[in-house]
Amino acid sequence: MKTWTKEERYRVLQDPEEIRPLHEAIVTSPYRQTYHIQPVTGLLNDPNGFVFHDGLWHLFYQWCPWGAIHGLKYWYHVVSEDLITWKNQGVCIKPDTEYDNKGAYSGSALPMLDDLYLYYTGNHRDPDWTRIPYTCMVDLKDQSNPVKLEKPLFGPAPGYTEHQRDPKIISRNGQFYIVLGAQNEAHQGRVLVWKAPAPDRDWTFAGELTVPGYEDFGDMWECPSIERISGQDVLLFCPQHLKLEGRGDTVHHNGYILGAMDWENLVFTPHGQFHVLDFGFDSYAAECVALDTEENDSEAIVAWMGLPDASYPTDEEDWQGCLTLPRLLTVRGRRLIQQPLTGLKALRSHELELIGTPHTIALPRACEVEFIARGGDMSLAVLAKEDGTGGIRIIYDDQARTLSVDRSGMQRRFHIDQGEVRTRLLPKGLHHMRIFIDHSSVEIFVNDGEAVFTTRAFPVAEEHFLRLEGDAALHIWALDPAVKDDFVI
Ligand code: FRU
Repeated sequence: MKTWTKEERYRVLQDPEEIRPLHEAIVTSPYRQTYHIQPVTGLLNDPNGFVFHDGLWHLFYQWCPWGAIHGLKYWYHVVSEDLITWKNQGVCIKPDTEYDNKGAYSGSALPMLDDLYLYYTGNHRDPDWTRIPYTCMVDLKDQSNPVKLEKPLFGPAPGYTEHQRDPKIISRNGQFYIVLGAQNEAHQGRVLVWKAPAPDRDWTFAGELTVPGYEDFGDMWECPSIERISGQDVLLFCPQHLKLEGRGDTVHHNGYILGAMDWENLVFTPHGQFHVLDFGFDSYAAECVALDTEENDSEAIVAWMGLPDASYPTDEEDWQGCLTLPRLLTVRGRRLIQQPLTGLKALRSHELELIGTPHTIALPRACEVEFIARGGDMSLAVLAKEDGTGGIRIIYDDQARTLSVDRSGMQRRFHIDQGEVRTRLLPKGLHHMRIFIDHSSVEIFVNDGEAVFTTRAFPVAEEHFLRLEGDAALHIWALDPAVKDDFVI
């Protein structure tokens, strides 16, 4: 595997032509997705600035052009009319000032009439590599001409380490707030709150968010956000360097706490415990957007289908990462529910004809499988070999009421040390699943959003069969492409 020098990782992209050959090579990969957002070249990580503005959905992603490395980060821009089909727009925020000289890190967006304000972390490093994080702003009034504010909105708050980043802009009660992920000097994860009367000036440090019971829960909280969903406050964040039961050796998680947010006193009172957003393997740094801005009631959520500090089989092809499907996010009982967006049905091109009791079926590389349970134990393998061996195995134990996803049967295995099986209790049993398979990913929505399992998967040529053991009705559709692999920089 190639090793990258610091100079190579942090090289500035001067001319798009420098990466055209890389793009031409990677588009031939069998693992390029056809309905998921993926990097034009190099590495994609967090989704950023998810927003509806001027008749379009805008989404950006953290992008390093050069290869499967976390080096110099740009914001790459994609747009959609329906949250299903996406178009590459090119680079939006470049790390080209003193304040962001080593990366335009993650952040969020706020539409203000004709303006679209983007907030991001300027990852500044001194020549001795000391980091100073700045909260910076760009106005994207004109899509082809992002205008950076000359000076950052603010620098780091004293009393915390260099880890202060990922501004999420929130407007509440006529005030503007920015919540930031942070680490205190005792190396505990925190959320810091800044406030301002106007979104582009006069920001002051309001203090640290108190989250009773979570004072010692990981050493850094990345990508925090406080959303209002179905009439409830939800704190979403990514605690790092923390082991959680049932999550193998994974130490980076993306989860949430339902509760009540007191903006006056900066206290988030949990109603219940921390839950992970996704019960699968590859999911991090999720970002939400209001679907109904009037009511602010339901949201969509999209995540990076990947994890920090992880390598994937496409690294050797010099690219890595993709985003999950945007999902509908609501609250049911004490949990967040994630469901596929209704519009996805428009991608169904034709339904496969299943003759007799389906046991083994060849799957298109991009497809949706609907599973309707008829009771009892079952085992469903997707991306299996023709003889039914291998693949990603979804196993339901009716007596224990557990659903397990086991990816150890794939020929190309990765992150083995983080555990290859994830299990979830389904108190009311298994009734229904919708499984979205793209060329290198599988997303499993269980019982209408009660649980989601997301995983990257890198099948070899023979791994494209489905094998069912157990009693269930199946529907399988081939899915049309919804993202174009265009070279737009
Ligand atoms: C999360 C993260 C953020 C940071 C960005 C840099 O994956 O580490 O905290 O802003 O990625 O790409």
